[in-house]
Amino acid sequence: MSALFRCRALGRTFGAGAAAVTAVAEATCRIEPGDRIAVSGASGSGKSTLLHLIAGLETPTSGEAEWPGLGGDPRRPPGAVAMVFQAPSLLPALDVTENVSLPLLLCGHEPAEARKRAIAALELLGLDELAGRLPEEISGGQAQRVVIARAIATRPVLLLADEPTGQLDTGTAAAVLDVLLAAAAHLDAALVVATHDEDVAARLGTRWHMRDGHLRTGWAAPC
Ligand SMILES: Nc1ncnc2c1ncn2[C@@H]1O[C@H](COP(=O)(O)OP(=O)(O)OP(=O)(O)O)[C@@H](O)[C@H]1O
Ligand SMILES: [Mg+2]
Repeated sequence: MSALFRCRALGRTFGAGAAAVTAVAEATCRIEPGDRIAVSGASGSGKSTLLHLIAGLETPTSGEAEWPGLGGDPRRPPGAVAMVFQAPSLLPALDVTENVSLPLLLCGHEPAEARKRAIAALELLGLDELAGRLPEEISGGQAQRVVIARAIATRPVLLLADEPTGQLDTGTAAAVLDVLLAAAAHLDAALVVATHDEDVAARLGTRWHMRDGHLRTGWAAPC
């Protein structure tokens, strides 16, 4: 089977001249179907930028990126790559079901079908009782599970999660990771998680590490 993503000497520099910041430098890696990858690294080391490059949300300034297992384009079919963003991203004026429906509507589904699929994604994650609530009426851990439901509603084959447990206590973080792993298994999707949390990283099969924009794959955490 083709790799979902592969890149060679991939880089992303923001700004120019003396103000230039190289967030990702010369990254070479690949993601295969079914992979479970943790990306660790200090704050500012380039984890989010790497995930955005993998998702095709950020344009590289050097190197090559390819999505052979996705027919070459991370946005086609729409929803094949899904992202759980680092920043809170539920729209406050929409209830939980409407938030989860949104990417389905953007992918071209009819409203009734989008709602049906959104409710199925919420049920899969045991969140159906939150369906009519507004984001301000649910906890941080519940909100993060809803964001995961939204990410899986389009049935992605590549699921990227950027610090999905960053704001959560240890118990809630473990539960959110349970949900991510179960969702990826259900979808038969590859899962890439950027995380500062060693407990979270230890539960994923493969370790990548970012340091000052440089990616090391096959990295082993110090004991
Ligand atoms: N849009 C942008 N414009 C300018 N600089 C940026 C931009 N996005 C990221 N950077 C810079 O690129 C570097 C890497 O940032 P990035 O957000 O990828 O790191 P990170 O490892 O995800 O950090 P954190 O753990 O704090 O989320 C940082 O120096 C950051 O300030
Ligand atoms: Mg980040």
